[in-house]
Amino acid sequence: MGIFVGAPLILLFLQFFSLGSGDLLPVPQKDIITTKDLRQYLSLGDINIDLPALYVFGEAFVDVGNNKFLEANTNKFTFAPYGIDFGGGNNATGRVTNGRNVVDFIAQALGLPSPPPALGMSDVDRKKTLTGVNYGSAFGAILAEAPAVQGITGDVLTFDEQLALFKNTTHDVKSQFNSTESYAEYMSKALFFINMGSNDFAAQWQFYYKDQYGVNNFDKYAEFVSQKFSEQLEILYKLGARKIFVNNVCPVGCMLTSLQPDTKACDDDTNNKVSAYNKLLPDLLKELQSTLPGSKFVLGDLYTIFEDVFASPSSFGFTNVTSSCCKTAERSPCNKGEEPCEYREKYVFFDLWHPTESIHFLWARRLLKDNSVCSPVNLIQLVQA
Ligand SMILES: *[C@@H]1O[C@H](CO)[C@@H](O)[C@H](O)[C@H]1NC(C)=O
Ligand SMILES: *[C@@H]1O[C@H](CO)[C@@H](O)[C@H](O)[C@H]1NC(C)=O
Ligand SMILES: *[C@@H]1O[C@H](CO)[C@@H](O)[C@H](O)[C@H]1NC(C)=O
Ligand SMILES: *[C@@H]1O[C@H](CO)[C@@H](O)[C@H](O)[C@H]1NC(C)=O
Repeated sequence: MGIFVGAPLILLFLQFFSLGSGDLLPVPQKDIITTKDLRQYLSLGDINIDLPALYVFGEAFVDVGNNKFLEANTNKFTFAPYGIDFGGGNNATGRVTNGRNVVDFIAQALGLPSPPPALGMSDVDRKKTLTGVNYGSAFGAILAEAPAVQGITGDVLTFDEQLALFKNTTHDVKSQFNSTESYAEYMSKALFFINMGSNDFAAQWQFYYKDQYGVNNFDKYAEFVSQKFSEQLEILYKLGARKIFVNNVCPVGCMLTSLQPDTKACDDDTNNKVSAYNKLLPDLLKELQSTLPGSKFVLGDLYTIFEDVFASPSSFGFTNVTSSCCKTAERSPCNKGEEPCEYREKYVFFDLWHPTESIHFLWARRLLKDNSVCSPVNLIQLVQA
């Protein structure tokens, strides 16, 4: 760790490699506590940011503990070894990884506290918190039915439910402003970060939707999901959101539960389908931006961020992409309380589906400044726009 910290020449050198092929910036350690420290570590330079709030929607990759407040929810990740590297160790907050997630890093780099889980806030918190809220929920999806199709029992927050919670947030927040103008200005500057869709492509959707909606081939299904997603983004806009950052869907066919048992190869069929859906997103966002005045939609290419790692793990510091760091039963989360692997930073996956803190950090820093995985601008440029 120590060799990178406080070695500006090495950082400068690494910066040249931050586009395209890999680089090796490790997860920032405990001595990097302020926004200034992290910006320096990320070689972001002296950036000027006027960002009042960060609102987060999505599934497990961005969940910071909402599921733990849902009754009868068997999909909580509030036990060790989850959180083993969070804030000094054994803090199982509900984050579905070993340490911080992408949102924690982005919030710190942008100078905000990591937004708290919506369901864990008191009435007073809800009124007073003007810096953003996180609605992410493991197994959340665009289609309300997707968790059940995947065989998930118990509550999760779907995107529709996350939007309903945000609608209530807007009432609480609005009550803190003196004028509609100052409230609208606040909303227009706030950043909305969305990571949704993986669970819509993880299930036996073909069989289910054939009966329910007559959606009987993949192209129709992909269009159906993207149409619903587009409607949800429009609801977000109508609730005041203007700067909206959307991640595409990760290569679901390379999640460990999808690998071919013998060769450990990715499931190309699933990845091709995810890619076909992802190809719809650029036009979808352009269309929304052209029809919704004042909106700015940016697409983050999470698919490529993973693909780059799979193509050349060692250039990003990973040695293990086909086994999980924690011990699991087949198709299950980490075994409760069991010691995970020692060199967690070397693993892409913490459990059979969810990436390690190292991937979360890589994801955050590429979105922040790397225009090869963001379009039309990167995350910092969106905040500054
Ligand atoms: C949990 O994290 C906090 C900082 O967020 C840290 O102070 C504390 O020591 C951690 N708890 C444990 C049990 O390690
Ligand atoms: C929003 O607030 C109303 C009124 O307090 C409440 O009845 C409703 O359940 C809330 N919606 C959500 C999704 O929490
Ligand atoms: C509302 O007005 C008061 C008094 O002018 C001011 O102190 C406060 O900061 C304002 N609140 C907001 C959210 O602008
Ligand atoms: C890395 O993954 C392989 C399976 O591909 C596994 O056999 C091996 O033990 C793992 N290496 C380490 C260091 O855990």
